[in-house]
Amino acid sequence: MSNNNTATMQQSFPMNGGDGPHSYLNNSHLQRQATNASRITIEEAIAKKLDVKCFSSNPFRLADLGCSVGPNTFIAMQHIVEAVERKYLAQGLKSEMPEFQVFFNDHVANDFNTLFASLPTERRYFACGVPGSFHGRLFPESSIHFMFSSHALHWLSKVPEELLDKNSPAWNRGRIHYTSGPEEVSHAYAAQFEHDMEIFLSARAKELVFGGMIVLLIPALPTGIPTSHIPIGIMFDLLGSSLMDMAKEGLISEAEVDSFNLPIYATSLEQMTSLVERNGYLIIERMELMDPTSKHVAVSGKDYTMNFRAGMEGIFGEHFGSGIIDEVFDRLYKKTVEFSHQLESSHKEGTQLFVVLRRK
Ligand SMILES: C[S@@+](CC[C@H](N)C(=O)[O-])C[C@H]1O[C@@H](n2cnc3c(N)ncnc32)[C@H](O)[C@@H]1O
Repeated sequence: MSNNNTATMQQSFPMNGGDGPHSYLNNSHLQRQATNASRITIEEAIAKKLDVKCFSSNPFRLADLGCSVGPNTFIAMQHIVEAVERKYLAQGLKSEMPEFQVFFNDHVANDFNTLFASLPTERRYFACGVPGSFHGRLFPESSIHFMFSSHALHWLSKVPEELLDKNSPAWNRGRIHYTSGPEEVSHAYAAQFEHDMEIFLSARAKELVFGGMIVLLIPALPTGIPTSHIPIGIMFDLLGSSLMDMAKEGLISEAEVDSFNLPIYATSLEQMTSLVERNGYLIIERMELMDPTSKHVAVSGKDYTMNFRAGMEGIFGEHFGSGIIDEVFDRLYKKTVEFSHQLESSHKEGTQLFVVLRRK
């Protein structure tokens, strides 16, 4: 049948669950801001490119891939349901207005309890959870009309193996990411992303109905800008140097830093275009780089630190032990203050890729 087993058994590091001070629920406003920045563009894509007349089945099924614990997923799903309802009305299909079913997908270890406990009571859809990795099949063939994923596809299915091989030119000594590293390291990350995307696109193409749509929001690298000049790149460098400082002080070993790499990758418009074209099952309806930040809301070093901690505490704890987490993120925060001018003047324009695909 499906390859769900491989999808559910991949290694995963979900965002911090619950509703505590370090939870994703309370520290995900940067992603919310970024998704809100694309709200009108998503509505336009549905109004112009989603041909609901070609869908015969009721209910209308939509999925959020990498939903985490909310509230961002609820906001996004509500917008999409409303935009699809407007599309039915605009096409004169009021009498055929479907019921909606939303599939909330994330890794098995995601805090689905918190997610479902905070489902909006006023929602206009039936909710269900789909545990498992989106780097594999999640749904039956031709069963989903609309798929959405925001700020999740930059997580690779695994760290490229050559990064840990001391004999490889891609051995990533003294760093935890490809930012500011040699090009062999970047190439290894890029190859892993390309492999993952081929699996992702092929699985989604099977699961989408004919004419079904995918909207993706992915952290991205603007053309011609080095990763070390965009906010997340600066944060990765600051995190790496915090860990190396701790190694020099004997709090952790250098070997522990050398063997730790974050499986996170920022694609580009050019790379994503060529991956979708090579895969061949989906039409690119729209692909553009956007600014995920709001001109009116400044993002502080504290905001970045809390956001990183909510997303990465699990992966750091697994490798270095949970005892060093407070120390790592306290040091990171201090570095964001020390390098605040670098964060403030970093390149934010075009650091989010907006993608609309349609099943051929
Ligand atoms: C930064 S959160 C984004 C959550 C939400 N979409 C938002 O915009 O706020 C990334 C989520 O993607 C999930 N994720 C990463 N890789 C995944 C995979 N292969 N399959 C399913 N979920 C994945 C993580 O567990 C995490 O909950």
